[in-house]
Amino acid sequence: MKVLKGQDPSAIKEAGRIIREGGIVVFPTETVYGLGADAFNPQAVARVFEVKKRPFFDPLIVHVKDPKDLEELCEGVDQRAKKLIERFWPGPLTLVLPKKDKVPDIVTSGLKTVAVRMPSHPIALSLIRESQTFIAAPSANSFGKLSPTRVEHVLRDIGDKVDLILDGGPCEVGVESTILALYPRPTLLRPGGIPREEIERLIGKLESHPSREKPLAPGELPKHYSPHTPLRIIREGEKIPEGLKIGLLAFKRPREGPFWAVEVLSEKGDLREAASRFFEALHRLDQLGLDLILAEPLPEEGLGLAIMDRLRKAEGEREA
Ligand code: TXA
Ligand code: MG
Repeated sequence: MKVLKGQDPSAIKEAGRIIREGGIVVFPTETVYGLGADAFNPQAVARVFEVKKRPFFDPLIVHVKDPKDLEELCEGVDQRAKKLIERFWPGPLTLVLPKKDKVPDIVTSGLKTVAVRMPSHPIALSLIRESQTFIAAPSANSFGKLSPTRVEHVLRDIGDKVDLILDGGPCEVGVESTILALYPRPTLLRPGGIPREEIERLIGKLESHPSREKPLAPGELPKHYSPHTPLRIIREGEKIPEGLKIGLLAFKRPREGPFWAVEVLSEKGDLREAASRFFEALHRLDQLGLDLILAEPLPEEGLGLAIMDRLRKAEGEREA
């Protein structure tokens, strides 16, 4: 496989050509790295599912370069959607809207809606422009595993199965986009890079997605975003098990305990900084051959909501 510097215009040209010709390209966004294909080429999109080993019932996000592109993909972009777009695009907000017929079923898993977002990362935007189409892209990791925020994470996982990788350095936001369905009522499908509170300030209270109901967002699957190493969120007053190689994912400071390795997400206690380091820290811990990763719970406000969502999914379903 080939890795090129994403800042290089000729690399973006090449990547755009590959997408146009039906290939698949890994590219940086402000949230996590994406694995992109031409959204209007069902065969290319099928390869994305295949490389990720992703089930076909889990639809993809279509990435656009301009709010106007929505007209080509969606029916009925109402005032509320326009308000959200004006405030949060380009950026980590994905909107789920009624789709036009020409959006292939493989992209939306047969749903009547399509998820769309305009990323803010300059390399992502240039790539979409250069490809002369829209790019369907999930995160560039094997299904259910940790999302990649650096090229090295991609290389360890699916790197050898793609046509080209554009390196844009570490991703700034570090957790995926917030996914919001607008119909019938504004509903948070996945907490992410735009805090829930900021959206609610603009359009009022959001409903939470009732779990285990279709359509599926990754949040609906009980286990997702998982490291290979078992992970548990530390419960209040819990004793650290003995005789195991344990890694700690701490919020502000290391805590006492027989830990083999400790990752601190933000000494300042800043949830944005914690989000930007979150997947990276988990990738590092996951490389150490530990028996268990223990994660401290974070406050569920701002980006803390997205982090806790990812931690619960990483933990999978607990017995009690
Ligand atoms: O930040 C992000 O959103 C990253 C970057 C690459 O843009 N992408 C990302 O894609 O996280 P992915 O595929 O890992 O997660 C997108 C999720 C899907 O799992 C799916 O459940 C949900 O979006 N989704 C897509 N289309 C949907 C639809 N029509 N209705 C409900 N959920 C949808
Ligand atoms: Mg993903």
